[in-house]
Amino acid sequence: METSAALHPVEGPNSAADWWQGGVFYQVYPRSFADSNRDGIGDLHGVLGRLDYLQQLGVDALWLSPFYPSPQHDTGYDVSDYFGVNPEYGTIEDFVQVVDAAHDRGLRILIDLVPNHSSSEHPLFQAALASGVGSPERDRYFFRYGGDNPPNNWGSQFGGPAWSQVQPLSGKEEDRGWWYLHLFDASQPDLNWDNPDVRHLFDEVLRFWLDLGADGFRVDVAHGLVKKPGLPDDQIGLNRLEIAPEELGRLYDQAPYFDQDDVHNIYRRWRRILDDYGPDRIMIGEVGVQDPNRKALYIRPGEMNQAFSFRVMHIGWDAPRLREALQTANGLELKFGGINTWVLSNHDVVRHATRLCYPRGSIFEGGLGPSDPRPDREMGLRRGLAYTVFLLGVPGSCYLYNGEELGLPEVLEIPDQARTDPTWERTGHRSYGRDGARVPLPWTADPVADWGPNPWLPIPDGWGELSAERQEGDPNSVLNQYRHFLQVRRQYGLGQGEWEVLDVDPDLVVVRAGHYLSVLNLGIGERKLPFTGQVILATEPPRQEDGHYWLAPNSAAWVQL
Ligand code: GLC
Repeated sequence: METSAALHPVEGPNSAADWWQGGVFYQVYPRSFADSNRDGIGDLHGVLGRLDYLQQLGVDALWLSPFYPSPQHDTGYDVSDYFGVNPEYGTIEDFVQVVDAAHDRGLRILIDLVPNHSSSEHPLFQAALASGVGSPERDRYFFRYGGDNPPNNWGSQFGGPAWSQVQPLSGKEEDRGWWYLHLFDASQPDLNWDNPDVRHLFDEVLRFWLDLGADGFRVDVAHGLVKKPGLPDDQIGLNRLEIAPEELGRLYDQAPYFDQDDVHNIYRRWRRILDDYGPDRIMIGEVGVQDPNRKALYIRPGEMNQAFSFRVMHIGWDAPRLREALQTANGLELKFGGINTWVLSNHDVVRHATRLCYPRGSIFEGGLGPSDPRPDREMGLRRGLAYTVFLLGVPGSCYLYNGEELGLPEVLEIPDQARTDPTWERTGHRSYGRDGARVPLPWTADPVADWGPNPWLPIPDGWGELSAERQEGDPNSVLNQYRHFLQVRRQYGLGQGEWEVLDVDPDLVVVRAGHYLSVLNLGIGERKLPFTGQVILATEPPRQEDGHYWLAPNSAAWVQL
């Protein structure tokens, strides 16, 4: 096949090798983003048809969540062929078309790499099942004998044990008492990265997509690939849901299946592959490591370019914690030279236009549903916009999640029988899961016109009112505000440079970068900004008195000093 995209580099301001520093990335969740044929499932032609919209929004790059062939037990994070496109989404040729058309518009394309596990339908796992105990095929995964019990106490990230029995899948008598490891769903067996076949397979996967013109990769569960020899018990067991989030984070840092030193050899190997294609190809890791010094190792020279700064996403509406998280991030940036990577929403968390209106700790991070307190929509939106502006004003890269530019809320009303996230079943219905953040995007006032009569997740009443079409003509719509934020950010070069957190008022979080301030008011009242200067953007017009600005509660502003 012609691989024209490889010969078709990105044009315009994003052509430099360091294009990603301070860049704005837009996460496309393919199943939910845009549907070109109204079968209820998003597709690559849907993405193609919205590239002008994304260019106009003002982002630098797209990150496409997995679009590979997959039985969709975890919406594509269960890959059955790393070299193809899910037929529901299109073809390899469609992917090349998306890359070409994106590059024409100066947009880069990152794709999602899922190396920790494959689908249980992947030919390698099927071959392992067929080949039997002790075979070289089984060594590509984790098959262990445990008798009546799982071989160790590890729990799945989605609830329940991280081991399932082999015999019901293989049908072989010799497999009684044998188990296979899956840190996520039973349909996602963990690959054994000690096996050279696995390392070689992924070398080829990287090259395949780079040859097609991909500009880089977001690496799924980047801290999880290598497991401690002997697979010893962890300190968590099956009680994940009973442990407070911060304590859980600390325990995961010690877990024998996360953040093992050898994982860095994999990223060094991948870096060399990326470098063969040029200095502008990048890797961003989903590095779920709390200890900032350990996390920083992933973005050492010769490894990844970026690792998501998830802490800022998880702390909620809390000034002291936000200040502390920023200070930690900044300290590391100065020490290790990496660039911060801000994110407020993605496909795994409650949308921030809903999440931020709840008091910290009052909602369960595993999703929201009908039994949860109703969110205050107006407050959530106001805080969501303010937090977004604030972070866009702190130097670093920013990742936006599709639909946040429309101010989409989390959908709480998904009927139980329509839920698809495996966490719902695996936690015995204790965790609603992530479907509420994945409802198909409204493009026009009529969801049936966008998605046909059977969208893959039900679309709630009134969704069309939030559509891009409805927001287009309203200068104050969330969509037009986002466009404005990104345009002003670019105009003033706000994503770049050194910065510091200023301690001026307990309710205000203030970051200073060169001649600019980014300020967020997390208090309940108006706060005086103890600086003089010019407000260049604010989510609510600040009041001026005696030469000073007063910021409304739940608002943010950028100030030129
Ligand atoms: C990552 C993905 C998540 C997925 C999991 C297993 O955390 O972001 O959506 O379920 O990995 O692949």
